[in-house]
Amino acid sequence: MDEARAPGRRTRVVDGSDRSIRLAVRTLRAGGIVAVPTETVYGLAADASDPLAVSRVFAAKGRPADHPLIVHLAGGASLARWARHIPEQAHRLAEAFWPGPLTMVLERSPSVLDAVTGGQDTVALRVPAHPVTQRILRAFGGGLAAPSANRFGEVSPTTARHVCDGMAGSVELVVDGGSCEVGVESTIVAFEGDEVVILRPGGVTAEAIAAVLGRRASSATRGTVRAPGMLASHYAPATALELCSGSEVAPRAAALASLGKRVGVLSLERTEAPGAAAAWDAGGDMAVLARSLYGCLKQADAEALDVLVVALPPDEGLGAAIGDRLRRAAHRAAP
Ligand code: TXA
Ligand code: MG
Repeated sequence: MDEARAPGRRTRVVDGSDRSIRLAVRTLRAGGIVAVPTETVYGLAADASDPLAVSRVFAAKGRPADHPLIVHLAGGASLARWARHIPEQAHRLAEAFWPGPLTMVLERSPSVLDAVTGGQDTVALRVPAHPVTQRILRAFGGGLAAPSANRFGEVSPTTARHVCDGMAGSVELVVDGGSCEVGVESTIVAFEGDEVVILRPGGVTAEAIAAVLGRRASSATRGTVRAPGMLASHYAPATALELCSGSEVAPRAAALASLGKRVGVLSLERTEAPGAAAAWDAGGDMAVLARSLYGCLKQADAEALDVLVVALPPDEGLGAAIGDRLRRAAHRAAP
């Protein structure tokens, strides 16, 4: 066990032992908030049936109160407690992808708190796959409302260290379950009539969803922001990002370096980038790029880069989620 000191308050980091799980469950039952590992990113969990606990999550994140939270469940069996009029397609998706990185927006049961749904008539539900959080959920028994464990608008944490760096002092307990395997958030789907709509691309690919449904889901149209993860600027590091194609990365990095900028490079494929102060690549493996994406963005800040030049991966498979996050992260950036 390790303790990270923060001004005024202490954040306690524990491993996934039985003792830690009991402590996490006790803390949650007492209305506390606990950062927990999931296969996508770390979440900041609170008892979804306790309005005070849920309000602590909003306060810790600095998140506007009308932005709804995902409720995490141990399994699909308790779905009917949280949602009603569940479409047949939702059952098929749950069967195929739970536990896993899929969130479904369904008509809420009347008992679901307004604080969780942001007053909407829907609730977002997901069964996470991480073994430690599965154990916490089973021992806890109820639903855990959990946004990503970062301050609003910042990059999501994929290690316990990231949680501590971003939120120390705002969270009492962090359960360390190692590095998140998927590395980008869950795919969020909603149901509109016969249509399945992808509100946020994520760890379950559109291709995998199409294979289960027998047809492609549609993508959410821009306009009203139904999910804050859909805000144009989100998931943003302090470092300016410049997005380009794979072949443009090296010349663009060289041009910026020749202007005296401290430049980093991030790409799916291995890229020569003379003049770059830092370079990361995923060896051509999209899953590796997803897993390391947020860590690289944080590393760019830690190394005080002026600009990170990023090769946008192909818009297929996990590349859709990676491209989505990169575009939002780049939105406010100007090198
Ligand atoms: O992978 C994930 O989904 C992670 C882990 C911790 O499970 N969680 C996560 O939570 O990314 P958060 O709060 O950072 O993003 C949840 C997204 C938000 O964009 C929110 O607006 C959307 O889910 N959401 C929640 N309830 C919704 C609802 N009823 N209708 C539409 N969108 C909803
Ligand atoms: Mg988030």
